[in-house]
Amino acid sequence: MLNFFKSDRKVNSHDNNRIEIDMNRIPEHIAIIMDGNGRWAKAKNLPRAMGHKAGVETIRRVIKEGDKLGVKYMTFYAFSTENWKRPKEEVSALMKLLVQYLRQEIGELDANGVLINVLGDLSRLPRECIDEIKRAKERTKNNTGIVMNFALNYGGRDEIIRATKEVAAAVEKGEIAIDDIDGRTIEKYLYTANMPDPDIIIRPSGEQRLSNFLLWQCAYSEFWYSNINWPDFTEKDLRMAIYDFQNRDRRFGGIK
Ligand code: FPP
Repeated sequence: MLNFFKSDRKVNSHDNNRIEIDMNRIPEHIAIIMDGNGRWAKAKNLPRAMGHKAGVETIRRVIKEGDKLGVKYMTFYAFSTENWKRPKEEVSALMKLLVQYLRQEIGELDANGVLINVLGDLSRLPRECIDEIKRAKERTKNNTGIVMNFALNYGGRDEIIRATKEVAAAVEKGEIAIDDIDGRTIEKYLYTANMPDPDIIIRPSGEQRLSNFLLWQCAYSEFWYSNINWPDFTEKDLRMAIYDFQNRDRRFGGIK
């Protein structure tokens, strides 16, 4: 099996299209709203599902690049709690792509130390998806490399509602006092418990909105938008986002 993830770790930013990234200040967590698959397909007179298929190729490229650069967590928004409103053929094409992706890639991801994780309520997904995800999570659970999160049937509001209910249940059982509830209490019940908040949220395709993604976690995330559609997003775009991030002044509400 090719160990392509790490094979050219020595390549520095000077070699890649002259985007000079500071390798000592790589963001820990990058989250991506993979938008524009439909428009990409439409522009080529292809069915929308072909846009999603091309989007999966971008995931393959981007996870390798993120890992090569030393990013620790990458989160891909693959299916929102609102995406069920799409035609059922499209929903089913997306679910099939997920299953295919995991079947085809799991060997290589595992060999490269990638830990697969899911954010979202899996219970509504087709059986085949649930089984494949369980297998992928189980197989990679002890890996110590990059964490690859798929947000699936995920909604930020839904996540916060679930956490709230769990906190309320803990209060009811006398495990937590109301006065002791703070941000950390809530975070413990989010899908992202024990993960750092995203440093950057990337959204291609020209849209500039969050679409119910990581609403709690994005409090101090830097947003990065680009006009290209997700299937056309390249390693260079990822590096551009990181470069821009490194040139921002993050104050977290304080002053410098
Ligand atoms: C948004 O583009 C994209 C999605 C709702 C789905 C993203 C999913 C994938 C790229 C593949 C899923 C598979 C795996 C392996 C996770 P859009 O369809 O809304 O594009 P549009 O706004 O141009 O119509």
